[in-house]
Amino acid sequence: MTKPKVFVTRRLLEPGLSLVQEFCDAEIWPDPLPPSREELLRRVPGLDGLLTLLTDRVDAALLEAAGPGLKVVSNCAVGVDNVDVAAATARGLPVGNTPGVLTEATADMAFALLMAAARRLPEGEREVRTGGWKTWSLDYLLGADFAGATLGIVGFGRIGRAVARRAMGFGLRILFTDPAPASPEPGVEATPVDFDTLLRQSDFVSLHCPLTETTRGLMNAAAFARMKTTAILVNTSRGPVVDQAALYEALKSHRIFAAALDVTVPEPLPTDSPLLTLENCLIVPHIASASRRTRSEMSRMAAENLIAGLKGEMLPNCVNPEVYKE
Ligand code: GLV
Repeated sequence: MTKPKVFVTRRLLEPGLSLVQEFCDAEIWPDPLPPSREELLRRVPGLDGLLTLLTDRVDAALLEAAGPGLKVVSNCAVGVDNVDVAAATARGLPVGNTPGVLTEATADMAFALLMAAARRLPEGEREVRTGGWKTWSLDYLLGADFAGATLGIVGFGRIGRAVARRAMGFGLRILFTDPAPASPEPGVEATPVDFDTLLRQSDFVSLHCPLTETTRGLMNAAAFARMKTTAILVNTSRGPVVDQAALYEALKSHRIFAAALDVTVPEPLPTDSPLLTLENCLIVPHIASASRRTRSEMSRMAAENLIAGLKGEMLPNCVNPEVYKE
């Protein structure tokens, strides 16, 4: 029996890799860098399945190029803003993602970034390496206090709620905004507020919303103007949720105290980005889910979504289940 033909845009981790190779006639892009748009367009015609990463743009043109035989798009990420889901739905094509398994790792990273920015770890480390550290002194590298501070969580889904759980242990008061009715986990005290209240009252603001047309540019100059001058912004969601030019101004002018970003526009962030000239901006390379178990689980889930789609079964994690309705 001939195996279904799939293209996988980067080498998966085990056990995902073996699952795909056993079930499929798989072409796996071998390079550490993603395939170019031209390569992708060249490889998709005649495919039964496509497994992508968040670095690959899956739009109507790519789906059109793939042709009518394409049965499934499996994205190895929880966010699917790189996929034109509406275009896939219009073609009756299920799109898979990898929710849940990266919740804890991403919440850990949000907290790591928050603490690092609040306690000025990158600056301190630079001081040690460059010989800027001269002595212990009372006012050296003073940062923010945690106990009793207010954390504002924007987007109270799985990851936002996991951040709230961590925040309880640090004695933080927790506020959140979410367009959908959301409730904290048992034992977590968190208060729903409007966005304006969250910005005005929070010492720390952490973003956990998906990138949509509503959230694009949510953190703009007007938002920064409403924040405390001592506030810290953490972004582990998607780069475009923050207006980076406005963030640069807010940090440079000390309108807010600091920012810590796992995601930027573009990715990778060019090394001549003005943000990288700022002491109060910590940036890491989109690694919030980069723990060994999490990435292996993401690979497995992406493989399982792909294989289910190829078998004509409902994807275990499908972002457009409406494709299954008659
Ligand atoms: C990572 O950013 C993801 O969406 O999985």
